[in-house]
Amino acid sequence: MRYHGGSGRVKQKGVLDFSINTNPLGVPIELENAIAECSAKEVYSRYPDYDYIELKRAIAYFYENIDYNNIIPCNGAAEALNLAILSLKPKTLIIVSPNYGDLDYELLCRSLGIKCIHYEMMPIGERFILDIEGLISEARSKPKPTIVLSNPNNPTGTVIPVKDIEDTARELRGKAFIVVDEAYAELSSSYTGLLGRYLDENIVVVRTFTKVFSIPGLRIGFLYTESKKALEKIDGIRQPWNVNAIIECALKKTLTSYRESLWKYIKGSQAFIALQRVELTEKLRHLGYRVYESNANFLLLEHEWIDSIELYNMLLRRNRIIVRPAHTFHGLTRHHTRVAVRRKWENELLVKALAETTPSNG
Ligand SMILES: Cc1ncc(COP(=O)(O)O)c(C=O)c1O
Repeated sequence: MRYHGGSGRVKQKGVLDFSINTNPLGVPIELENAIAECSAKEVYSRYPDYDYIELKRAIAYFYENIDYNNIIPCNGAAEALNLAILSLKPKTLIIVSPNYGDLDYELLCRSLGIKCIHYEMMPIGERFILDIEGLISEARSKPKPTIVLSNPNNPTGTVIPVKDIEDTARELRGKAFIVVDEAYAELSSSYTGLLGRYLDENIVVVRTFTKVFSIPGLRIGFLYTESKKALEKIDGIRQPWNVNAIIECALKKTLTSYRESLWKYIKGSQAFIALQRVELTEKLRHLGYRVYESNANFLLLEHEWIDSIELYNMLLRRNRIIVRPAHTFHGLTRHHTRVAVRRKWENELLVKALAETTPSNG
């Protein structure tokens, strides 16, 4: 069974949603305007370009120094991840866990007859640590492996240095592919990501506009690889119009005409999130929560005194706040919860609500 954050299933107006990790500053105005314009032009009454040539060019221009031929636009990062795994046809999928896609990958592996292995990051003090050497040995010992990891990792917020990923890819050249899910790269001030660097051909990078531009409903992401063989295979299993015409039209315009202001928005968002994250971490630690070190726009909390589902229900009922119980991530328990970093006043409401659930106040 799948399990994700988001208030889509909670039929209540006015809830404050800390279960979804989109940019707390919302949709950039340039993009919002372009979506309205594209909609007014009724672009939805035509098919999008099934090869997305102009969209690919716009993405390549936006990120600079990347070849548009190596991009495949996708229906969100979720589709990009599925397409990569489907086309690489691994015999073993090694998931660096806890991972956003733990349950989804297990479902995919079951359907495709792939052996699914979770390679666990270890909590040491207030950090999750990835043993890179151990991961390389694990991959070497398995038949036809593909490694999938998210960086920054969801739900822990851990960043694996770019160099470690590049070294791992080099070590496993000809042996394994590495799919690097960089869904939160733009929202982290301490992770620059793999785009624009020299990449080994066994790396597939997955990006999305969902998080940075706060548009989960529009479903747009892309994957990037320097492997022509992988590109051909992935494009071969992609359905022809996998990205809708509204976001195709809106992104073509904004990524090119408003490149500078969008990057300003991204840098501003990174600084905003970093500041709010420090404040929120401090306040939650003060309440007695174990808060893992995060480089992203969310925090993983540990709370021995309360069950995460009980906490979820209590916050929703008393405070109309939604958090993400984290027990469905591999290796985590019903004493883990993930919360997004949002605006200051929203974070303050969360802290106030959580204060009422700590042992001294519960
Ligand atoms: C790490 C990670 N990868 C991928 C996704 C899916 O992103 P999208 O909505 O673009 O499919 C998510 C969504 O939560 C995520 O957290």
